[in-house]
Amino acid sequence: MGIVVPLNPDKEQKPSVEALIRLTKPGMGQVNDLILKMAGANVDMIPEIADYLISSGGKRLRPMLTLAAADMCGYEGDGHVKLAACVEFMHTATLLHDDVVDESDMRRGKKSARMVWGNQASVLVGDYLLGQSFRMMVEVGSLEALDILSTASSVIAEGEVMQLVAAKNTATTEDEYLEVIRAKTAALFSAAAEVGPVLAKAPQAAKSAFRSYGTNLGLAFQLIDDALDYGGSAADLGKDIGDDLREGKITLPVVLSYRRGSDADRAFFDRVLMEGDVQDGDLETAIATMKQLDALKDTVERASHYGAVAKDALAAFPDSNMKKSLLETVDFCIYRGH
Ligand code: IPE
Ligand code: IPE
Ligand code: MG
Ligand code: MG
Repeated sequence: MGIVVPLNPDKEQKPSVEALIRLTKPGMGQVNDLILKMAGANVDMIPEIADYLISSGGKRLRPMLTLAAADMCGYEGDGHVKLAACVEFMHTATLLHDDVVDESDMRRGKKSARMVWGNQASVLVGDYLLGQSFRMMVEVGSLEALDILSTASSVIAEGEVMQLVAAKNTATTEDEYLEVIRAKTAALFSAAAEVGPVLAKAPQAAKSAFRSYGTNLGLAFQLIDDALDYGGSAADLGKDIGDDLREGKITLPVVLSYRRGSDADRAFFDRVLMEGDVQDGDLETAIATMKQLDALKDTVERASHYGAVAKDALAAFPDSNMKKSLLETVDFCIYRGH
């Protein structure tokens, strides 16, 4: 593995999401049933594509956050199950759209939906899932949750467009990159976590705490995803590596390498990313340059920083197994793929 991350010496085992999975299991069973039900439609092609992606797995991180946050705030109804399903639908829709935009061939260890059914069908089924997600949100009847999730939905789209505009621009700054990932990824993690306390009618401080936890976990998650696009393995990730380079996507490993590198390094990134002239061996060259300039290591370090912020956001909550599992989830997101 290309990225060296010092594991916490106090821990014998790698951090995992097993505890979160175990603690949210009853609710997640209902969430999965609802997801399958709501993926149904009158046109056969819709469930065919939706089920293809849904049954390929996925970590289900975001809906687990919704259930866990609601639980930690003492919620006792069943609206959290619906909102968790909404969150996963929004995520699934985003993936369908994202693979079209990124021209990605692989997702969750299988051919991406666009490689099987084409780009048009992927975009339209993504739209359907978003629509279904909004129908479920309305059923729950919390205007505040509706506001949070619908805002997240438009912010995600804004982030994807922002990223499209920044593509191929090697002058992109770290701040601009952070703005993109805050929108395209952290917004959904944040909304997923915040609607838990909202349903529980928890005090503002609890809502702010979970929003901060979600936002910072989301930033850490995307930073690691971007490091793994160079330093990870397709077998572990279930998606190809090197997609970002081929697409001219400017992620933090590139931003750091471009700033820290020599004129020759900059000329290399300009050719590959700006001019789109990608040749055999370029991915290997990019990875070697990033390693030499500590760009992957420091991307992981930035992720660790946001991970620490996420953990501190929950500091005021009393200790519980659920809280412990959410803290471990932060470590899992940072150490995953290693
Ligand atoms: C992939 O998210 C999209 C990013 C934000 C990087 P996940 O890695 O959570 O995707 P699945 O649901 O587990 O496949
Ligand atoms: C994440 O971005 C997609 C969204 C959150 C919209 P990426 O393009 O990096 O995600 P992967 O690598 O395709 O999963
Ligand atoms: Mg992508
Ligand atoms: Mg990626």
